[in-house]
Amino acid sequence: MHVSHLSLADFRSYARAEVALDPGVTAFVGPNGQGKTNLVEAIGYLATLGSHRVSSDAPLVRMGADRAVIRAAVTQGERSQLVELELNPGRANRARINRSSQVRPRDVLGIVRTVLFAPEDLALVKGDPGERRRFLDELVTARSPRMAAVRSDYERVLKQRNTLLKSAAMARRHGGRSMDLSTLDVWDQHLARAGAELLAQRLDLIATLLPLADKAYEQLAPGGGPLGLAYRSSAGEAVDSGAARTREAVYEVLLDALSQVRKQEIERGVTLVGPHRDDVLLRLGEMPAKGYASHGESWSYALALRLASYELLRSEGAEPVLVLDDVFAELDARRRERLAELVAPGEQVLVTAAVEDDVPGVLVGARFGVSGGEVTRL
Ligand SMILES: Nc1ncnc2c1ncn2[C@@H]1O[C@H](COP(=O)(O)OP(=O)(O)O)[C@@H](O)[C@H]1O
Ligand SMILES: [Mg+2]
Repeated sequence: MHVSHLSLADFRSYARAEVALDPGVTAFVGPNGQGKTNLVEAIGYLATLGSHRVSSDAPLVRMGADRAVIRAAVTQGERSQLVELELNPGRANRARINRSSQVRPRDVLGIVRTVLFAPEDLALVKGDPGERRRFLDELVTARSPRMAAVRSDYERVLKQRNTLLKSAAMARRHGGRSMDLSTLDVWDQHLARAGAELLAQRLDLIATLLPLADKAYEQLAPGGGPLGLAYRSSAGEAVDSGAARTREAVYEVLLDALSQVRKQEIERGVTLVGPHRDDVLLRLGEMPAKGYASHGESWSYALALRLASYELLRSEGAEPVLVLDDVFAELDARRRERLAELVAPGEQVLVTAAVEDDVPGVLVGARFGVSGGEVTRL
């Protein structure tokens, strides 16, 4: 698929922007702070309902405005669709498909598919577990948009369960009457049900992704691998060893683990078991990548994970748009060339760079200058 038109209103630095796009490579070039990333961030938002830079919507709305609109015309084979999202920080966002009446924002998932490479990706390797969880969950959702509902169920149940645990912790501390814990049993089941569905999808994803990531790493840094992706579950060995991997098996493991930590949970007032506490251990050769891999190796690892995501999504559905936000400047000449060759055949490749020279020669295509809030075809 590709985006044939992007239209923004009060998104980030843009009061308005209208950008007609072609398939193939398009580069956005301009000095720092001029709004290049803002453009591709908007496309990424349509694909994930989130930004790769911030976790809340407020910074996405132009300073002084009260809502932002992102609209895109999307072409997939012969078919063309119009998707529109209105961002209303603090209130519900709104969505439309083909100008029809409103749909839920999550109903637009799957229409725009992207794989976004950005300087922030280094955190996949070097950063906190939350970075890797977000990577997994975004990809799980891109593979299967119905997982957006499962994720939001999980978040909601987790929040409510934590509230309950907190009040149980308070009651204990103040020597009050201990609360009725049968309510907690019900929440355990809700948490385990949504949690198991998400966890089983993550496990399946990791198994499918590993050979693709390994191959991509070999292409970027020959002889440097192999890679290993090992799930680290807060529910323990049964998940990590692969003994429990179906939704049903994981459900039982989660319920059991919750019952074992209940006392601690009531003491601390938080949920200690579930996908929100998990991690993936990234291995390079025999060693964990985090803390051991060099800067260059960490970059190759992050790129390999993104390239693997691209291979996976295109093998399972519409080809995603490849977005390379300011990544070439971060790479040495060899990795730059290899990455450029690997992405060049993509149906649509959007590249941002501060200077023209940062865009590798094989990525020939349309050029836009981005400066002072204007996006101009060169
Ligand atoms: N909500 C906002 N309202 C107005 N301006 C914004 C908003 N968010 C970011 N900006 C501005 O956008 C610019 C950064 O744009 P960005 O696309 O990241 O630049 P670059 O071209 O370097 O990729 C900054 O100057 C910043 O002040
Ligand atoms: Mg930028």
